[in-house]
Amino acid sequence: MNGTRPGGAGRASFTVAVDGPAAAGKGTIARAIAARFGLAHLDTGLLYRAVGLRAAAGEEPEAAARALAAADLDRPGLRGEAAAGWASRVAAIPAVRAALLDFQRTFARRPGGAVLDGRDIGTVVCPEAEVKLFVTASPEVRARRRWLEQGGEAAAVLAEVQTRDARDAGRADAPLRAAPDAVVIDTSAMDAEAAVAAAAAVVAARLPPG
Ligand code: CDP
Repeated sequence: MNGTRPGGAGRASFTVAVDGPAAAGKGTIARAIAARFGLAHLDTGLLYRAVGLRAAAGEEPEAAARALAAADLDRPGLRGEAAAGWASRVAAIPAVRAALLDFQRTFARRPGGAVLDGRDIGTVVCPEAEVKLFVTASPEVRARRRWLEQGGEAAAVLAEVQTRDARDAGRADAPLRAAPDAVVIDTSAMDAEAAVAAAAAVVAARLPPG
């Protein structure tokens, strides 16, 4: 560590890993941390969602992961629950995960620092991350947040969230779990502002002095 603070070109790399189950508030926290500390942000779920949509259209999943292009991240429906379901299916395929690894690692170590949110950032993608957060909340709270965002049938949204969590936590390759050295933030009883404040306090305490 060279004693510089992150937050600008030419500064040291500094990685914040944000993992957790569906709709726990990872994205809100990751975006806010990136803005507050001047870090780049990558929502790694979008990569799996984009591969999922290509697979849903008939492409072989590993080939889809290798061919992923920036335009895939503009696909209609990318942020919906159908794409999320496809994402968690292709995410269980080791060759798909392997194909997406280099891009994520290079992003994580970019000069100036980066925040990545996903399922396996602190455990597999960036085990050396300077900060690891595991953001969680009860399934009912998470399903309610997703329902408020997307609408639909509340019971069906809860069932989808629970099915996806079980698939993500149960897969053999890079299952969803907190890294042993992650700080757990349970947002069940927190609003977004409180969750961001809790995360920001952890990041601020780990920033190199400058
Ligand atoms: O927004 P939400 O938390 O519901 O999902 P997401 O982060 O967009 O991720 C969609 C799916 O992609 C997850 O259910 C995982 O199966 C998969 N994923 C993964 O396996 N590893 C990651 N680093 C990110 C997402």
